[in-house]
Amino acid sequence: MAVKRFLIKAKLIEKKELGKDYHISWFDAPEIVSNISPGQFVMMESGQYLLRPFSVYETDGQKAGFLYKVIGWGTSFLSKLNIGDQVLIHGPLGKGFTYPEDKNKPILIVAGGIGIATFPIVARIAHEKGYKIKTLFGARSANDLVCAEELKKYGELEAITDDGSSGRKGFVTELLKNELTKNKNQEIMVCGPTPMLKSVIKVCNEFSVVGQVSFEEYMACGYGVCMSCVVMSNGKYIRTCFEGPVMRSDAVSV
Ligand SMILES: Cc1cc2nc3c(=O)[nH]c(=O)nc-3n(C[C@H](O)[C@H](O)[C@H](O)COP(=O)(O)OP(=O)(O)OC[C@H]3O[C@@H](n4cnc5c(N)ncnc54)[C@H](O)[C@@H]3O)c2cc1C
Ligand code: FES
Repeated sequence: MAVKRFLIKAKLIEKKELGKDYHISWFDAPEIVSNISPGQFVMMESGQYLLRPFSVYETDGQKAGFLYKVIGWGTSFLSKLNIGDQVLIHGPLGKGFTYPEDKNKPILIVAGGIGIATFPIVARIAHEKGYKIKTLFGARSANDLVCAEELKKYGELEAITDDGSSGRKGFVTELLKNELTKNKNQEIMVCGPTPMLKSVIKVCNEFSVVGQVSFEEYMACGYGVCMSCVVMSNGKYIRTCFEGPVMRSDAVSV
């Protein structure tokens, strides 16, 4: 099947602050909306030479929404755009999540921090397809549990924070171990910072299950040419922007 990706100038049509450092920006981007698969990403203009990767958080009509945390130059640039401003967007890019063939297999979402940004669209479409969904969400503190209410529309959500300010105190891998002890036959979909992903992969290996893991490595080009985003897989390097960002947990060396 031919890969459809676009390089467009998209207009900012809506923006919302979700609390300290978190924002959602909506762009008029019909080409992205009609071609996106849940879990894919785009590269977006950042006010610097290199574009930055962002997951498509949700779509609504012709609008593509991006949920992000302001951490540096590019995300700060994005948060300061005014309605009507246009930015360059390249995408959709990469390989997204795959829904299980067995409609009775529950989907277990495991998110760490801003890794949650990839899941509202994944969960909404899974819900529309009739899957049972549960989300395990680990974050630093209560302030970082953004869009938890949105995920709750599609199924149960269990939160855990590093400081105990909401939910239990601890790491999301503890929740995952509890879930897998109860039922190993779940389709696990994971996104978060690399150290968290590595811990989740270790848990998957420990329980002899294979999950779908979405990597948020540094990316310079986003479409397979620069090798800035590689991870080790079975003794060789693979590109998270091209072979991923979603990969099988048993394909990644930890
Ligand atoms: C496929 C993919 C999807 C992503 N989706 C989202 C999303 O939906 N929402 C979102 O908020 N973020 C997302 N990210 C991460 C996002 O791209 C980075 O937050 C962004 O590149 C930071 O850019 P910046 O210019 O603001 O920060 P910079 O000025 O480039 O960096 C600021 C600081 O953050 C560190 N840093 C930058 N990028 C990363 C990274 N990827 N991992 C670890 N540390 C980093 C730098 O080392 C530096 O210390 C995604 C990343 C990938 C690869
Ligand atoms: S970001 Fe250039 S190869 Fe992946």
